[in-house]
Amino acid sequence: MKIGVLTGGGDCPGLNAAIRAIVRRANSDQAEAVGFRNGWQGLVENDFMPLDRHSVTGILPRGGTILGTSRFNPTKDPKHIERLKENWRTHELDGLIVVGGEGSLSATLELWRTHQLQVVGVPKTIDNDIRGTDFTFGFDTAVSIVTDAIDRLHSTAESHHRAMVVEVMGRHTGWIAAYGGLAGGADVILVPEYPFRFSRVCDLLNERKRQGRAFSIVVVAEDAHPHPDEPFLDEEQCNAIYQHDRLGGIGEALAREIERCTDIQARVTKLGYVQRGGSPTAFDRILATRLGIKAYEMVRDQQWGQMAALRANAIINVPLAQAVGDLKRLDDEIYRVAEVFFG
Ligand code: F6P
Repeated sequence: MKIGVLTGGGDCPGLNAAIRAIVRRANSDQAEAVGFRNGWQGLVENDFMPLDRHSVTGILPRGGTILGTSRFNPTKDPKHIERLKENWRTHELDGLIVVGGEGSLSATLELWRTHQLQVVGVPKTIDNDIRGTDFTFGFDTAVSIVTDAIDRLHSTAESHHRAMVVEVMGRHTGWIAAYGGLAGGADVILVPEYPFRFSRVCDLLNERKRQGRAFSIVVVAEDAHPHPDEPFLDEEQCNAIYQHDRLGGIGEALAREIERCTDIQARVTKLGYVQRGGSPTAFDRILATRLGIKAYEMVRDQQWGQMAALRANAIINVPLAQAVGDLKRLDDEIYRVAEVFFG
């Protein structure tokens, strides 16, 4: 048996752990594995590397992906699909494992549905926004980086009696903001799922000051929006902050507004790509390993068009159709818990 592997979309900690698990499990069945570089682009351009035991030695703790990644989508151009199928035949692949986020897994589903490609998905992303799985790997590492940053920001915020605005990633969902903010003891957490009223943010900060706590930590997700009843961004600012492909800037705008509307000094920390870099946590290494092993077994058992997933601590397979198309929004319960600690 010969299996292809590729990693697509934004990188995240744990990708190498998943690759290693696929290769080691394949090896134990005397199956062969080949990696395609830079996501789907590698299969279209026949840019590949053999994956044997030697090539995955020592990669478990390493961030990023030894295969490289990209957001290339082969379904956009019929010529790409033809080339991809040709390379598939040249390599005599029995199946392909795509380790990806929403974008890569959507393309995977489409290629399975419309071209009957024998594909299996593995969910990964720091955003934790893929349906069908309780957690994606990469998320736990990102949350621990945010938590550590908030811990550090507390002491400088307290010394200067400032409001520290911490802008975090997560694209269109607030998982990283809510988990990181909760773990770090944030005083306000703003997420895309609940448009925020700026007057409430000011009330919380002023009330803390009145009670003698003249510093605050405000965690804001990159796609958090002001409530339409209390807009404070003009059209130009909105266009700059909320670009689908490159979100960012709500933290700056919020800090400026806090300084304008209260007598509290505000500073911003945009954590950015630090949240995606470096070594995965033990949780992410184990989750990625379990999902990688399951994905190999799904190829062996010809469970095409499915995704390996974590549910109630069991590793199962779910149809890709159930996982993509819509994002997994932040749990209401988590936000309710976080809200208890606001102010
Ligand atoms: O999806 C992961 C993620 O890190 C998001 O949190 C962020 O909005 C986006 O990727 C950044 O994408 P890029 O790597 O294309 O700048």
